[in-house]
Amino acid sequence: MTNISSYAKDNKSLHSKKIIPNVKMEKNIIINSQNKNPYETDEMLNMYLNFHYGKSFFDVPNYLKALTDIAIRHSSKFKKALDIGCSVGRASFELSQYFEHTDALDYSNQFIQTAKKIQSNEAVYYTNLIEGEISEYKNVNIKSFISDTTKIKNILFNKSDACYLEQSFSNYDLILAANLLDRLKEPALFLKGISQRMNSDGVFILSSPYTWMEKYTDKKNWLGGITPQGSIITSYDALKNILSKEFTEVQPPSDIPYIIQETSREYQLGIAELTVWRKK
Ligand SMILES: C[S@@+](CC[C@H](N)C(=O)[O-])C[C@H]1O[C@@H](n2cnc3c(N)ncnc32)[C@H](O)[C@@H]1O
Repeated sequence: MTNISSYAKDNKSLHSKKIIPNVKMEKNIIINSQNKNPYETDEMLNMYLNFHYGKSFFDVPNYLKALTDIAIRHSSKFKKALDIGCSVGRASFELSQYFEHTDALDYSNQFIQTAKKIQSNEAVYYTNLIEGEISEYKNVNIKSFISDTTKIKNILFNKSDACYLEQSFSNYDLILAANLLDRLKEPALFLKGISQRMNSDGVFILSSPYTWMEKYTDKKNWLGGITPQGSIITSYDALKNILSKEFTEVQPPSDIPYIIQETSREYQLGIAELTVWRKK
């Protein structure tokens, strides 16, 4: 992995970027509605567009591409996939290259609307914060990472709550839940309902940094990172407890790094734990 000082030395372009004052674009940029959902803000939209479609940093591969590559390696049937908590859709576009149909669900309306724009080949612009009031202007170019863009029409993007999915969201050969679990109000409810939506031998790919926060999940609903009566329960303990009746764990848990850019000089490094489950 490139270390930080060599990255800074190589990254001579900070002063040559196409920069703009930090103002809202009149067209194309989606202006957020005032909404209590933290994923309905312009900041989140810009950050996730850059995370999904921007360049990689410090030699850490694109997280969504890394996860879908793993998902494909474990899958044996390719009829129907679900990307739950799909955000602005990168993993869903990757899955569409392999699966006959992909459902891509998220609770953020602006994320789903933006993913739909990308799907219908509309121009999607976003800004990337450089410092203070200065931003860099970028656009999403789906052709730069998806080889068969005719297949992306087989994705259904829909605003849905992962804990209360409609019955029609069923019969999956693959379910991917990337960095979703610790953002849910009722993560146990989500996990308990997942197997009934899958075909036997279906693969459930769960990746999470287990960053439990009361802002998203009441403490009484945290799956792990808890110490009831002095005992220690990790999130992985809880996953095994909930999932192992209906799933076989396919491989030991592994670490998947990801980097989310906050400004041109600040980055968030996460190390998610990947677990892979096959429905019995
Ligand atoms: C940390 S982001 C991860 C997004 C994407 N999977 C990724 O890895 O970049 C969490 C996502 O979960 C979505 N989300 C939060 N609560 C949800 C719920 N109840 N149902 C569906 N999606 C939800 C958010 O809108 C957001 O897109």
